[in-house]
Amino acid sequence: MGTKTIRPAIPTPFTRMVGVDHPIVLAPMAGAVESDLAAAVGNAGGYPIMPCSWSSKETIDTELANLRAKTDAPFAVNLCLDMPQDARLEYCLSHRPNAVHFFWGDAAPFVEHVHANGALVMQTVSTSKEAKRAVEAGVDVLIAQGWEAGGHVKGTVATLPLLPAVADAAGSVPVLAAGGISDGRGLAAALCLGASGVVMGTRFLATPESAAHADYIAHVIAAQHSDTVHETDLYNVGWSNAAHRVLRNALADRWLEEGRPDNQTRHRSGEIIAKRGGNSITAYQSTTPHHTMTGEIEALSMWAGQSVGLVNSVDPTGAIVDSIMAKAHAALRLP
Ligand SMILES: Cc1cc2nc3c(=O)[nH]c(=O)nc-3n(C[C@H](O)[C@H](O)[C@H](O)COP(=O)(O)O)c2cc1C
Repeated sequence: MGTKTIRPAIPTPFTRMVGVDHPIVLAPMAGAVESDLAAAVGNAGGYPIMPCSWSSKETIDTELANLRAKTDAPFAVNLCLDMPQDARLEYCLSHRPNAVHFFWGDAAPFVEHVHANGALVMQTVSTSKEAKRAVEAGVDVLIAQGWEAGGHVKGTVATLPLLPAVADAAGSVPVLAAGGISDGRGLAAALCLGASGVVMGTRFLATPESAAHADYIAHVIAAQHSDTVHETDLYNVGWSNAAHRVLRNALADRWLEEGRPDNQTRHRSGEIIAKRGGNSITAYQSTTPHHTMTGEIEALSMWAGQSVGLVNSVDPTGAIVDSIMAKAHAALRLP
């Protein structure tokens, strides 16, 4: 079990609701967040969300048990609603998470059941209209995801205009800001815009606790804020019609230069470029480069948000949380 260190806290309605010190949430990142990174965020006083959308029952059971063994911090589980999740929801609920976070869909049909199981409901939204519907359905926490965010991004509004609009629509329901935030200045700005905390993905990729591949992390560190693209039909093998933000690479550059050719005619279509265990990964497949993968890591979907420009080194998760809190305190001129 890890130990919490003392860091200056900034209490918010969200931190009080879930019982953590800091308004910093680890984004669920399928393929990059496993129990080590989630526990490190929890032990630093933040709130981790475990990605479970594509996981088997065995993986959910093992990972959530490992997380419990490494931290006593509360945590949420994440399920993407672009596919049926009824069975996974039950596997997750059996581990008594603090919350279930739904992404890419409407949480309303699940609210009563999740509440009856003693967990809160969180939902990612990308418009104020969606936010209003979620609040009416009884969702407890909203995540406003701006289009700067890394990974799959449904909306097209940036965090700066989206966040206050969602906060206004949410009323007393806490709102977390996701997308474009990688340091304490971002946390301070989000709090000023009405957020109750921030959800950070890209920043936590570059940590020793991350499950991302070392080559992917090296590209994250080298990238500038202008090195990502937001596309729908680029890494669409395995999950189509789902817009995503990803680092530019030679494959993406060629596809863009050639005018976004379709799945059948594009360069290297169908070619196996990497492996994970016995599974083959083809060019343009939607998959996070995991540390166990071998092959052409650079050609894979290296998800990253525009805040990647602020990520310049691999740092321990606890040190990142410390630094964010110290810088947010300074930016907000808190004692
Ligand atoms: C590598 C990666 C994988 C992601 N996987 C998921 C996921 O499984 N479920 C989800 O709800 N969001 C996922 N996201 C989106 C994050 O939840 C979050 O919105 C985003 O990371 C915030 O933007 P930032 O990367 O600029 O911090 C992913 C993001 C990244 C970078």
